[in-house]
Amino acid sequence: MEIIILPSKEDCAKLGGQLIFNLVKGNPECVLGLATGSTPVPLYEELIRLHKEDNLSFSNVTSFNLDEYIGLSKNHPCSYRYFMQEQLFNSVDINFNSTHVPNGLADDIQVECEAYEQSILDAGGIDLQILGIGSDGHIGFNEPCSSLSSRTRMKTLTGETIKDNARFFESENDVPRHCITMGVGTILDTKSVLLFAFGEGKSDVISKAIEGPISSMVPASALQLHPKVKVILDEPAASKLVNIDYYKEVYANRPSS
Ligand code: GLP
Repeated sequence: MEIIILPSKEDCAKLGGQLIFNLVKGNPECVLGLATGSTPVPLYEELIRLHKEDNLSFSNVTSFNLDEYIGLSKNHPCSYRYFMQEQLFNSVDINFNSTHVPNGLADDIQVECEAYEQSILDAGGIDLQILGIGSDGHIGFNEPCSSLSSRTRMKTLTGETIKDNARFFESENDVPRHCITMGVGTILDTKSVLLFAFGEGKSDVISKAIEGPISSMVPASALQLHPKVKVILDEPAASKLVNIDYYKEVYANRPSS
């Protein structure tokens, strides 16, 4: 894991934007794995800026989102499909048919999940996966105790996640209890990962995920097994890392490439 600690979330978004810029310029047909939540919003703003000001085109890019609530239509303002349209897709030149978000209204959720896995395979796999992290250690919606080899499937949200995500809904009761999420194994199969976390509130879970043991109790800790992960943190999110000075030294002295 490469741990990168920058002064602000805007700096983190700039770096993420540059990495995605380089990937898409080098391979305009690349496959991006996308995330929702508040964390990737500054990154999506940066991608929109790069599209408008620096000619970054998404016209041949394919995308797969991590997850979706079961029971919300794509037009529901709290659905992740709606989020993606609003936060990124409507402001860049990506082809709608090349964007994939699990269908939370599918008649047969199991069939939907299997088809989602197959579409990722058919696209040649995900070149770069963007991740946030839940306060309980989830990635996607892989809640504690998720199998570390799990694939796309239905999950039940924990009370903690329902509370955390209630801020996007009118009330806690409106948060769906179930979702479709790529599995931890699906995420481990991606070719590279950028995990972002911002703010003091994420500092405990970040230290567990990065410096703690690999455990299904902290699904993000499975990323320690992934060969190509950059963890991009602002100072407050990094504040509880034991080896913080070492990570800063490694980054400051990184070989130029
Ligand atoms: C949701 C999403 C996750 C995301 C998490 C963190 O639960 N399913 O993919 O990482 O929220 O949210 P935030 O970035 O708002 O802290």
